[in-house]
Amino acid sequence: MSLDIVILAAGQGTRMRSSLPKVLHPVAGKAMLSHVLDCGRSLEPMSLQVVIGHGAEKVRERLQGADVNFVLQAEQLGTGHAVAQALPHLSADRVLILYGDVPLIERDTLDRLLAKVTDDRIALLTVVLDDPTGYGRIVRDESGSVQAIVEQKDASEAQRAIREGNTGILAVPGKRLAEWLGRLSNNNAQGEYYLTDVIAMAVADGLVVETVQALDPMEVLGANDRFQLAQLERHYQFRAAKRLMAQGVTLLDPARFDVRGEVTVGRDVLIDVNVILEGKVLIEDGVQIGPNCVIRDSVLRQGAIVKANSHLEGAELGEGADCGPFARLRPGAVLGARAHVGNFVELKNARMGEGAKAGHLSYLGDADIGARTNIGAGTITCNYDGANKHRTVMGEDVFIGSNSALVAPVTLGDRVTTGAGSTVTQDVPADTLAVGRARQRNIEGWARPTKTKK
Ligand code: UD1
Ligand code: CA
Repeated sequence: MSLDIVILAAGQGTRMRSSLPKVLHPVAGKAMLSHVLDCGRSLEPMSLQVVIGHGAEKVRERLQGADVNFVLQAEQLGTGHAVAQALPHLSADRVLILYGDVPLIERDTLDRLLAKVTDDRIALLTVVLDDPTGYGRIVRDESGSVQAIVEQKDASEAQRAIREGNTGILAVPGKRLAEWLGRLSNNNAQGEYYLTDVIAMAVADGLVVETVQALDPMEVLGANDRFQLAQLERHYQFRAAKRLMAQGVTLLDPARFDVRGEVTVGRDVLIDVNVILEGKVLIEDGVQIGPNCVIRDSVLRQGAIVKANSHLEGAELGEGADCGPFARLRPGAVLGARAHVGNFVELKNARMGEGAKAGHLSYLGDADIGARTNIGAGTITCNYDGANKHRTVMGEDVFIGSNSALVAPVTLGDRVTTGAGSTVTQDVPADTLAVGRARQRNIEGWARPTKTKK
């Protein structure tokens, strides 16, 4: 059976107190609405409709995609009215309604829900809560069949005591939807066109209402304010941590670990506290990551070690390579197998061959560094002349004396040595010592100045 998805995202989100539309607020670095869109996409629907209203232009701008159709609900007259705006674009056998501010909904749950909907069955996702205040209540008859949903504000005392709440997520047969929505009235406590009134209509028309329960109440929690947003964030992170641990990662504290993207992991990976992984990160077997590291869009090959307080972006560490503590690897930093980068070393667009080392306090930008080459402390590649960037090329087994300035473009052959404190402006052929500094003079018997008496 074919499927259309309608995502409601027109509400204002007043309690966020924000100029950003509510559904654009991020969970794990990604807009809530994007989480819902991605989950919806995984069901391979015929169409994805997003009903927008408040902040419509911002939402459209941020999330436009070839497979998304935005429908404007100029005035927010209720959830039923919202779905009605999408009707002209719906043609599938089944319509699934999702909320743009309920980002943690899982594919498995929606699969269970969709398995229940047919031409004469509605499938409703409900949740049993200790405190269902604010939720529409699921009203059942003596035999347990769902009869209606009653909104909190319209409910009797007895109905308010019902603990089964409406999550708002439901799947309905497409054929009947237009007719039901056309019959909605706003004669209720909030003066809104309630989507939930469709349930009683369907029952009157002889349909059966099936319910599916969300196993985890957090999955159906919406974010109405920043505190709820933070709760969703923690829950997302908890789930992500659990998934990684199941795959063979030791997290020294899953409560102090954040993923904001897609992480692929091997086995026996060890991650210390306060590590943030962003974008696409690949972590192979046996990698160790120390505390307080931020790693974005990077690849860590087998057995690589990232020591405390390192910051990696667009970097690759080869097998058994290590960096940090306090290393900064910027885009294009590539460490060969067993290469070593120590504290306060910054690399940008620089490749280090197998076993090459830069132990302390260096800037290596736009550089090719051969295997086993050793970069002394304080070495700087002067890659920028104020207008253009130039490359520094070093061969294998080069030894750069401490505090050398390598003025690019410049090429140093294999086994070159530079004297400490050299400013190297010319190419150096292989097997050569380059010394580019003033010669030392010793002035014998030189007297230090003394303080003049006033
Ligand atoms: C709705 C349900 C309620 C359920 C609850 C779960 C109705 C009438 N009630 O109530 O049974 O327990 O969700 O959270 O459906 N929206 C629009 N356009 C509108 C109105 C709402 O796009 O005109 C969107 C909102 O942005 C939001 C969602 O629909 O994402 C739910 O709207 P909200 O006003 O929060 O509904 P509730 O009163 O909480
Ligand atoms: Ca709500």
